[in-house]
Amino acid sequence: MASIVLPALSSGDGTFEVPGDKSISHRILMLSAIAQGNTLVDNCNAGEDVERTRRALTSLGVAINGSDRRLTVFGATELREPGSTIDCGNSGTTMRLLMGLLADRTRAVLDGDASLRQRPMERVASPLRAMGARIETSSLGRPPVTIEGASAGLRGITHAMPFASAQTRSALLIAGLRAEGETSVSSPAVCRDHAERMLAAMGARVSVAGLNVTVSRSPLTAIPSYEVPGDISAAAFFLAGAAVAQPGGRLSVRRVGLNPTRTAALDVLRDMGLRIGVRNLLERHGEPVGDLDIICGVQPHKRELHLDSGVVPSCIDEIPMLCALAGVVLDRFTVRGASELRAKESDRVTSTAELLRAFGITAQELPDGIDVTGTRKLIAPERISTGGDHRIGMTAAFLALAARHAIVIDAAECIATSFPGFAQAWTGVFRG
Ligand code: S3P
Repeated sequence: MASIVLPALSSGDGTFEVPGDKSISHRILMLSAIAQGNTLVDNCNAGEDVERTRRALTSLGVAINGSDRRLTVFGATELREPGSTIDCGNSGTTMRLLMGLLADRTRAVLDGDASLRQRPMERVASPLRAMGARIETSSLGRPPVTIEGASAGLRGITHAMPFASAQTRSALLIAGLRAEGETSVSSPAVCRDHAERMLAAMGARVSVAGLNVTVSRSPLTAIPSYEVPGDISAAAFFLAGAAVAQPGGRLSVRRVGLNPTRTAALDVLRDMGLRIGVRNLLERHGEPVGDLDIICGVQPHKRELHLDSGVVPSCIDEIPMLCALAGVVLDRFTVRGASELRAKESDRVTSTAELLRAFGITAQELPDGIDVTGTRKLIAPERISTGGDHRIGMTAAFLALAARHAIVIDAAECIATSFPGFAQAWTGVFRG
Protein backbone atom coordinates (compact mmCIF):
# COMPACT_ATOMS: atom_id res chain seq x y z
CA MET A 1 0.00 0.00 0.00
CA ALA A 2 1.28 3.43 -0.91
CA SER A 3 1.86 6.24 1.56
CA ILE A 4 2.36 9.91 0.92
CA VAL A 5 4.57 12.06 3.06
CA LEU A 6 3.69 15.72 3.44
CA PRO A 7 6.00 18.21 5.14
CA ALA A 8 4.76 20.82 7.59
CA LEU A 9 3.06 23.51 5.51
CA SER A 10 1.83 26.95 6.43
CA SER A 11 1.40 29.39 3.54
CA GLY A 12 -0.30 29.19 0.19
CA ASP A 13 -0.27 31.04 -3.09
CA GLY A 14 -0.33 30.55 -6.82
CA THR A 15 -2.51 30.01 -9.85
CA PHE A 16 -3.39 26.45 -10.72
CA GLU A 17 -5.98 24.07 -12.14
CA VAL A 18 -7.56 21.00 -10.61
CA PRO A 19 -8.41 17.77 -12.47
CA GLY A 20 -11.47 17.66 -14.69
CA ASP A 21 -14.77 17.11 -12.94
CA LYS A 22 -15.24 13.43 -12.16
CA SER A 23 -19.04 13.38 -12.40
CA ILE A 24 -19.01 15.20 -15.73
CA SER A 25 -16.20 13.00 -17.09
CA HIS A 26 -18.15 9.78 -16.47
CA ARG A 27 -21.22 11.22 -18.12
CA ILE A 28 -19.56 12.69 -21.21
CA LEU A 29 -17.80 9.37 -21.91
CA MET A 30 -20.98 7.32 -21.57
CA LEU A 31 -23.29 9.67 -23.42
CA SER A 32 -20.79 10.27 -26.23
CA ALA A 33 -20.53 6.51 -26.67
CA ILE A 34 -24.20 6.28 -27.63
CA ALA A 35 -24.42 9.57 -29.55
CA GLN A 36 -24.29 10.08 -33.32
CA GLY A 37 -20.84 11.41 -34.18
CA ASN A 38 -17.51 11.69 -32.43
CA THR A 39 -16.55 13.68 -29.36
CA LEU A 40 -13.17 15.09 -28.44
CA VAL A 41 -13.18 15.18 -24.63
CA ASP A 42 -10.59 17.55 -23.23
CA ASN A 43 -9.47 17.81 -19.60
CA CYS A 44 -11.15 14.50 -18.82
CA ASN A 45 -10.56 13.39 -15.22
CA ALA A 46 -7.58 11.01 -15.38
CA GLY A 47 -8.33 9.30 -12.07
CA GLU A 48 -9.00 5.62 -11.66
CA ASP A 49 -12.78 5.94 -11.33
CA VAL A 50 -13.20 7.53 -14.74
CA GLU A 51 -10.63 5.10 -16.13
CA ARG A 52 -13.02 2.32 -15.02
CA THR A 53 -15.76 3.91 -17.08
CA ARG A 54 -13.45 4.23 -20.09
CA ARG A 55 -12.39 0.58 -19.82
CA ALA A 56 -15.97 -0.58 -19.35
CA LEU A 57 -16.99 1.24 -22.54
CA THR A 58 -14.05 -0.27 -24.42
CA SER A 59 -15.11 -3.75 -23.29
CA LEU A 60 -18.57 -2.94 -24.66
CA GLY A 61 -17.05 -2.27 -28.08
CA VAL A 62 -16.79 1.53 -27.95
CA ALA A 63 -13.71 2.93 -29.70
CA ILE A 64 -11.91 5.49 -27.56
CA ASN A 65 -8.55 6.95 -28.61
CA GLY A 66 -6.12 9.26 -26.94
CA SER A 67 -4.39 9.89 -23.67
CA ASP A 68 -5.85 10.08 -20.18
CA ARG A 69 -7.00 13.67 -20.33
CA ARG A 70 -7.70 14.13 -24.02
CA LEU A 71 -9.81 11.42 -25.58
CA THR A 72 -11.84 10.90 -28.70
CA VAL A 73 -14.99 8.83 -28.27
CA PHE A 74 -16.38 7.34 -31.48
CA GLY A 75 -20.13 7.40 -30.98
CA ALA A 76 -23.23 5.59 -32.17
CA THR A 77 -21.87 2.24 -31.17
CA GLU A 78 -24.14 -0.77 -30.86
CA LEU A 79 -22.87 -1.95 -27.51
CA ARG A 80 -21.68 -5.55 -27.60
CA GLU A 81 -21.73 -8.17 -24.86
CA PRO A 82 -18.55 -7.76 -22.79
CA GLY A 83 -16.28 -10.83 -22.81
CA SER A 84 -16.05 -10.89 -19.01
CA THR A 85 -17.27 -9.24 -15.83
CA ILE A 86 -16.97 -5.45 -15.94
CA ASP A 87 -14.82 -4.37 -13.01
CA CYS A 88 -16.01 -0.98 -11.79
CA GLY A 89 -13.24 -0.86 -9.16
CA ASN A 90 -14.07 1.70 -6.47
CA SER A 91 -16.44 3.68 -8.68
CA GLY A 92 -20.11 3.81 -7.68
CA THR A 93 -20.83 6.24 -10.51
CA THR A 94 -19.44 3.81 -13.10
CA MET A 95 -21.59 0.98 -11.82
CA ARG A 96 -24.84 2.88 -11.34
CA LEU A 97 -24.69 4.76 -14.63
CA LEU A 98 -23.76 1.59 -16.51
CA MET A 99 -26.86 -0.08 -15.07
CA GLY A 100 -28.96 2.57 -16.79
CA LEU A 101 -26.91 2.49 -19.98
CA LEU A 102 -27.04 -1.29 -20.35
CA ALA A 103 -30.53 -1.92 -18.91
CA ASP A 104 -32.00 -3.34 -22.12
CA ARG A 105 -28.95 -3.62 -24.36
CA THR A 106 -26.75 -6.52 -23.44
CA ARG A 107 -25.98 -9.20 -20.88
CA ALA A 108 -23.37 -7.99 -18.43
CA VAL A 109 -22.11 -8.57 -14.92
CA LEU A 110 -20.85 -5.53 -13.01
CA ASP A 111 -18.60 -5.96 -10.02
CA GLY A 112 -16.23 -3.84 -7.95
CA ASP A 113 -13.68 -3.74 -5.15
CA ALA A 114 -14.36 -4.55 -1.50
CA SER A 115 -15.69 -1.03 -0.81
CA LEU A 116 -18.01 -0.95 -3.83
CA ARG A 117 -19.29 -4.42 -2.91
CA GLN A 118 -20.70 -2.88 0.27
CA ARG A 119 -22.67 -0.18 -1.52
CA PRO A 120 -26.41 -0.21 -2.26
CA MET A 121 -27.46 -0.85 -5.86
CA GLU A 122 -31.20 -1.52 -5.46
CA ARG A 123 -31.88 2.22 -5.57
CA VAL A 124 -31.12 1.95 -9.30
CA ALA A 125 -32.01 -1.71 -9.97
CA SER A 126 -35.51 -1.49 -8.52
CA PRO A 127 -36.82 1.39 -10.68
CA LEU A 128 -35.03 -0.09 -13.72
CA ARG A 129 -36.94 -3.33 -13.10
CA ALA A 130 -40.15 -1.31 -13.01
CA MET A 131 -39.13 -0.04 -16.47
CA GLY A 132 -38.93 -3.64 -17.67
CA ALA A 133 -35.22 -4.34 -17.26
CA ARG A 134 -34.07 -7.76 -16.11
CA ILE A 135 -31.47 -6.89 -13.56
CA GLU A 136 -30.43 -8.55 -10.31
CA THR A 137 -28.30 -7.48 -7.40
CA SER A 138 -26.60 -9.80 -4.94
CA SER A 139 -27.29 -10.26 -1.25
CA LEU A 140 -28.55 -7.13 0.53
CA GLY A 141 -28.90 -5.40 -2.83
CA ARG A 142 -25.16 -5.01 -3.36
CA PRO A 143 -22.81 -5.84 -6.26
CA PRO A 144 -22.22 -7.90 -8.25
CA VAL A 145 -25.08 -6.75 -10.46
CA THR A 146 -26.29 -9.00 -13.28
CA ILE A 147 -28.04 -7.49 -16.27
CA GLU A 148 -29.88 -10.09 -18.33
CA GLY A 149 -29.84 -8.40 -21.68
CA ALA A 150 -32.47 -7.22 -24.10
CA SER A 151 -35.98 -7.84 -22.83
CA ALA A 152 -39.20 -6.72 -24.43
CA GLY A 153 -37.87 -3.16 -24.25
CA LEU A 154 -38.12 -0.48 -21.61
CA ARG A 155 -41.16 1.59 -20.72
CA GLY A 156 -41.08 4.96 -19.01
CA ILE A 157 -42.01 5.29 -15.36
CA THR A 158 -42.60 8.01 -12.82
CA HIS A 159 -40.17 7.53 -9.97
CA ALA A 160 -39.93 9.50 -6.74
CA MET A 161 -36.46 9.04 -5.27
CA PRO A 162 -36.73 8.61 -1.49
CA PHE A 163 -33.48 10.59 -1.12
CA ALA A 164 -31.57 12.87 -3.48
CA SER A 165 -29.18 10.79 -5.61
CA ALA A 166 -27.77 12.16 -8.83
CA GLN A 167 -26.39 8.76 -9.76
CA THR A 168 -29.83 7.18 -9.52
CA ARG A 169 -31.51 9.96 -11.46
CA SER A 170 -28.84 9.93 -14.18
CA ALA A 171 -29.11 6.14 -14.57
CA LEU A 172 -32.87 6.33 -15.00
CA LEU A 173 -32.66 9.22 -17.46
CA ILE A 174 -30.10 7.34 -19.54
CA ALA A 175 -32.40 4.28 -19.58
CA GLY A 176 -35.30 6.62 -20.38
CA LEU A 177 -33.59 7.62 -23.64
CA ARG A 178 -34.65 4.21 -25.01
CA ALA A 179 -37.93 3.74 -23.17
CA GLU A 180 -41.45 3.86 -24.56
CA GLY A 181 -43.19 6.98 -23.22
CA GLU A 182 -41.88 9.42 -20.65
CA THR A 183 -39.54 8.73 -17.76
CA SER A 184 -39.96 11.18 -14.88
CA VAL A 185 -37.75 11.29 -11.82
CA SER A 186 -38.37 13.53 -8.84
CA SER A 187 -35.92 14.26 -6.06
CA PRO A 188 -36.65 15.47 -2.52
CA ALA A 189 -33.80 18.01 -2.81
CA VAL A 190 -31.50 19.62 -5.37
CA CYS A 191 -28.63 17.35 -6.44
CA ARG A 192 -26.09 17.58 -9.25
CA ASP A 193 -27.78 17.90 -12.64
CA HIS A 194 -24.87 17.33 -15.05
CA ALA A 195 -26.66 14.56 -16.95
CA GLU A 196 -29.68 16.76 -17.59
CA ARG A 197 -27.55 19.63 -18.88
CA MET A 198 -25.51 17.31 -21.08
CA LEU A 199 -28.56 15.53 -22.46
CA ALA A 200 -30.12 18.87 -23.40
CA ALA A 201 -26.85 19.93 -25.09
CA MET A 202 -26.93 16.67 -27.07
CA GLY A 203 -30.46 17.30 -28.31
CA ALA A 204 -32.39 14.92 -26.05
CA ARG A 205 -36.00 15.67 -25.20
CA VAL A 206 -35.47 16.48 -21.56
CA SER A 207 -37.33 18.95 -19.39
CA VAL A 208 -36.84 20.14 -15.85
CA ALA A 209 -39.64 21.47 -13.65
CA GLY A 210 -38.43 22.22 -10.16
CA LEU A 211 -37.19 18.97 -8.64
CA ASN A 212 -38.73 16.88 -11.40
CA VAL A 213 -36.92 15.81 -14.58
CA THR A 214 -38.60 14.14 -17.56
CA VAL A 215 -36.98 12.53 -20.57
CA SER A 216 -38.52 10.92 -23.66
CA ARG A 217 -37.01 8.51 -26.12
CA SER A 218 -34.48 10.49 -28.11
CA PRO A 219 -31.34 10.03 -30.16
CA LEU A 220 -28.27 11.97 -29.03
CA THR A 221 -26.09 14.15 -31.22
CA ALA A 222 -22.42 14.16 -30.24
CA ILE A 223 -20.87 17.39 -28.99
CA PRO A 224 -17.81 17.58 -31.28
CA SER A 225 -15.53 19.12 -28.67
CA TYR A 226 -16.23 19.07 -24.94
CA GLU A 227 -13.90 20.57 -22.36
CA VAL A 228 -14.56 19.20 -18.89
CA PRO A 229 -14.48 21.96 -16.26
CA GLY A 230 -12.24 21.60 -13.22
CA ASP A 231 -13.70 19.59 -10.36
CA ILE A 232 -15.11 21.86 -7.67
CA SER A 233 -14.96 18.96 -5.20
CA ALA A 234 -11.18 18.75 -5.76
CA ALA A 235 -10.80 22.55 -5.64
CA ALA A 236 -12.66 22.60 -2.32
CA PHE A 237 -9.70 21.05 -0.47
CA PHE A 238 -7.45 23.89 -1.66
CA LEU A 239 -10.04 26.47 -0.64
CA ALA A 240 -10.17 24.95 2.83
CA GLY A 241 -6.36 24.96 2.86
CA ALA A 242 -6.42 28.66 1.98
CA ALA A 243 -8.77 29.30 4.91
CA VAL A 244 -6.18 28.01 7.41
CA ALA A 245 -3.01 29.14 5.60
CA GLN A 246 -1.15 32.27 6.70
CA PRO A 247 -3.42 35.25 6.03
CA GLY A 248 -2.72 37.33 2.96
CA GLY A 249 -1.63 34.67 0.44
CA ARG A 250 -3.61 34.54 -2.78
CA LEU A 251 -4.79 31.48 -4.65
CA SER A 252 -6.43 31.41 -8.03
CA VAL A 253 -8.04 28.21 -9.32
CA ARG A 254 -8.69 28.41 -13.02
CA ARG A 255 -11.61 26.99 -15.01
CA VAL A 256 -13.59 25.38 -12.20
CA GLY A 257 -17.10 24.02 -12.74
CA LEU A 258 -19.56 26.31 -10.96
CA ASN A 259 -22.80 24.48 -11.59
CA PRO A 260 -25.17 25.80 -8.89
CA THR A 261 -26.08 22.24 -7.88
CA ARG A 262 -22.45 21.80 -6.79
CA THR A 263 -21.54 25.14 -5.21
CA ALA A 264 -23.14 24.84 -1.76
CA ALA A 265 -19.68 24.26 -0.29
CA LEU A 266 -18.61 27.70 -1.56
CA ASP A 267 -21.52 29.25 0.32
CA VAL A 268 -20.55 27.38 3.49
CA LEU A 269 -16.91 28.41 3.08
CA ARG A 270 -17.99 32.03 2.69
CA ASP A 271 -20.15 31.68 5.81
CA MET A 272 -17.02 30.45 7.56
CA GLY A 273 -15.34 33.72 6.58
CA LEU A 274 -13.33 32.76 3.47
CA ARG A 275 -13.13 35.45 0.81
CA ILE A 276 -13.80 33.86 -2.60
CA GLY A 277 -14.19 35.87 -5.80
CA VAL A 278 -15.41 34.57 -9.16
CA ARG A 279 -13.98 35.81 -12.46
CA ASN A 280 -14.39 34.94 -16.13
CA LEU A 281 -17.72 33.22 -15.58
CA LEU A 282 -19.06 31.65 -18.75
CA GLU A 283 -21.21 28.74 -19.79
CA ARG A 284 -20.03 25.82 -21.90
CA HIS A 285 -22.51 23.22 -23.11
CA GLY A 286 -24.83 24.20 -20.28
CA GLU A 287 -22.19 24.06 -17.52
CA PRO A 288 -21.09 27.29 -15.79
CA VAL A 289 -17.30 27.59 -15.52
CA GLY A 290 -15.16 30.30 -13.92
CA ASP A 291 -11.95 31.18 -12.09
CA LEU A 292 -11.92 31.37 -8.29
CA ASP A 293 -9.76 33.93 -6.46
CA ILE A 294 -9.19 33.29 -2.79
CA ILE A 295 -7.50 35.35 -0.13
CA CYS A 296 -5.92 33.16 2.52
CA GLY A 297 -7.18 33.35 6.09
CA VAL A 298 -10.71 33.71 7.37
CA GLN A 299 -12.70 36.50 8.93
CA PRO A 300 -15.46 34.46 10.55
CA HIS A 301 -18.72 36.28 11.04
CA LYS A 302 -20.59 33.25 12.34
CA ARG A 303 -19.54 30.95 15.17
CA GLU A 304 -22.04 28.18 14.47
CA LEU A 305 -23.39 26.65 11.29
CA HIS A 306 -25.94 23.92 10.68
CA LEU A 307 -26.53 22.08 7.41
CA ASP A 308 -29.70 20.11 6.72
CA SER A 309 -31.11 17.78 4.09
CA GLY A 310 -32.06 20.68 1.82
CA VAL A 311 -28.44 21.68 1.21
CA VAL A 312 -26.47 18.50 1.99
CA PRO A 313 -26.87 16.84 -1.46
CA SER A 314 -25.32 19.93 -3.10
CA CYS A 315 -22.15 19.57 -1.02
CA ILE A 316 -22.27 15.87 -0.17
CA ASP A 317 -18.69 15.14 -1.24
CA GLU A 318 -17.34 18.18 0.62
CA ILE A 319 -18.86 17.29 4.01
CA PRO A 320 -15.71 15.65 5.47
CA MET A 321 -13.65 18.69 4.51
CA LEU A 322 -16.29 21.15 5.78
CA CYS A 323 -16.46 19.31 9.11
CA ALA A 324 -12.67 19.46 9.40
CA LEU A 325 -12.50 23.17 8.60
CA ALA A 326 -15.40 23.87 10.95
CA GLY A 327 -13.46 22.06 13.67
CA VAL A 328 -10.68 24.61 13.20
CA VAL A 329 -12.55 27.89 12.62
CA LEU A 330 -16.03 27.53 14.19
CA ASP A 331 -17.35 26.76 17.66
CA ARG A 332 -20.01 24.35 16.46
CA PHE A 333 -21.03 22.72 13.19
CA THR A 334 -23.82 20.20 12.76
CA VAL A 335 -24.80 18.26 9.66
CA ARG A 336 -28.18 16.47 9.62
CA GLY A 337 -30.14 14.71 6.90
CA ALA A 338 -26.93 13.18 5.59
CA SER A 339 -27.42 9.43 6.12
CA GLU A 340 -26.22 9.01 2.53
CA LEU A 341 -22.74 9.74 3.86
CA ARG A 342 -22.82 6.28 5.38
CA ALA A 343 -23.05 4.70 1.91
CA LYS A 344 -20.04 6.36 0.27
CA GLU A 345 -16.54 4.95 -0.37
CA SER A 346 -16.43 4.54 3.42
CA ASP A 347 -19.05 5.19 6.07
CA ARG A 348 -18.14 8.86 5.98
CA VAL A 349 -19.96 9.74 9.19
CA THR A 350 -17.72 7.33 11.08
CA SER A 351 -14.54 7.92 9.08
CA THR A 352 -14.89 11.71 9.30
CA ALA A 353 -15.57 11.65 13.04
CA GLU A 354 -12.58 9.35 13.62
CA LEU A 355 -10.30 11.53 11.52
CA LEU A 356 -11.35 14.71 13.33
CA ARG A 357 -10.85 13.07 16.72
CA ALA A 358 -7.34 12.00 15.70
CA PHE A 359 -6.57 15.73 15.36
CA GLY A 360 -8.13 16.62 18.72
CA ILE A 361 -11.47 17.89 17.40
CA THR A 362 -14.60 16.76 19.22
CA ALA A 363 -16.86 15.05 16.72
CA GLN A 364 -19.96 13.11 17.60
CA GLU A 365 -21.63 10.74 15.16
CA LEU A 366 -25.35 11.18 14.65
CA PRO A 367 -27.51 8.59 12.87
CA ASP A 368 -27.86 10.97 9.92
CA GLY A 369 -24.91 13.30 10.29
CA ILE A 370 -22.25 14.66 12.56
CA ASP A 371 -21.88 17.20 15.35
CA VAL A 372 -18.51 18.99 15.48
CA THR A 373 -17.21 21.18 18.30
CA GLY A 374 -14.33 23.40 17.27
CA THR A 375 -10.96 23.45 18.94
CA ARG A 376 -8.26 26.12 18.82
CA LYS A 377 -5.58 23.58 19.65
CA LEU A 378 -5.14 20.80 17.15
CA ILE A 379 -3.01 17.80 17.94
CA ALA A 380 -1.21 16.24 15.02
CA PRO A 381 -0.89 12.51 14.53
CA GLU A 382 2.29 11.43 12.80
CA ARG A 383 0.44 9.16 10.43
CA ILE A 384 -3.10 8.52 9.46
CA SER A 385 -4.80 6.01 7.15
CA THR A 386 -7.32 6.92 4.48
CA GLY A 387 -9.18 3.69 5.19
CA GLY A 388 -9.49 3.43 1.40
CA ASP A 389 -11.49 6.66 1.02
CA HIS A 390 -9.92 9.36 -1.17
CA ARG A 391 -11.82 12.24 0.41
CA ILE A 392 -10.75 11.18 3.91
CA GLY A 393 -7.13 11.14 2.67
CA MET A 394 -7.35 14.67 1.26
CA THR A 395 -9.12 15.89 4.40
CA ALA A 396 -6.20 14.50 6.43
CA ALA A 397 -3.78 16.55 4.30
CA PHE A 398 -5.89 19.62 5.03
CA LEU A 399 -5.88 18.97 8.80
CA ALA A 400 -2.11 18.51 8.81
CA LEU A 401 -1.78 21.91 7.10
CA ALA A 402 -4.10 23.44 9.70
CA ALA A 403 -1.92 21.90 12.44
CA ARG A 404 1.29 23.10 10.69
CA HIS A 405 2.54 19.56 10.99
CA ALA A 406 4.14 16.98 8.72
CA ILE A 407 2.10 13.84 8.14
CA VAL A 408 2.33 10.42 6.54
CA ILE A 409 -0.92 9.39 4.89
CA ASP A 410 -1.14 5.62 4.56
CA ALA A 411 -3.29 3.65 2.11
CA ALA A 412 -3.05 6.75 -0.06
CA GLU A 413 -3.41 5.09 -3.45
CA CYS A 414 -7.19 5.65 -3.29
CA ILE A 415 -6.62 9.40 -3.66
CA ALA A 416 -5.86 8.72 -7.31
CA THR A 417 -9.45 7.57 -7.87
CA SER A 418 -10.37 11.24 -8.20
CA PHE A 419 -7.15 13.26 -7.94
CA PRO A 420 -4.01 11.68 -9.41
CA GLY A 421 -0.97 13.73 -8.40
CA PHE A 422 -2.71 15.24 -5.39
CA ALA A 423 0.37 15.34 -3.13
CA GLN A 424 2.41 17.15 -5.76
CA ALA A 425 -0.38 19.63 -6.46
CA TRP A 426 -0.88 20.24 -2.71
CA THR A 427 2.80 20.93 -2.00
CA GLY A 428 2.95 23.06 -5.16
CA VAL A 429 0.36 25.43 -3.69
CA PHE A 430 1.10 25.19 0.03
CA ARG A 431 4.60 25.71 1.42
CA GLY A 432 6.40 25.50 4.75
C1 S3P B 1 -22.19 11.57 -7.96
C2 S3P B 1 -23.25 11.77 -7.12
C3 S3P B 1 -23.14 11.72 -5.66
C4 S3P B 1 -21.69 11.91 -5.23
C5 S3P B 1 -20.75 11.05 -6.00
C6 S3P B 1 -20.82 11.36 -7.48
C7 S3P B 1 -22.44 11.58 -9.40
O1 S3P B 1 -23.60 10.46 -5.20
O2 S3P B 1 -21.57 11.63 -3.85
O3 S3P B 1 -19.42 11.26 -5.56
O4 S3P B 1 -21.50 11.68 -10.21
O5 S3P B 1 -23.61 11.49 -9.78
P1 S3P B 1 -25.16 10.06 -5.10
O6 S3P B 1 -25.75 10.12 -6.43
O7 S3P B 1 -25.14 8.67 -4.56
O8 S3P B 1 -25.79 11.03 -4.17
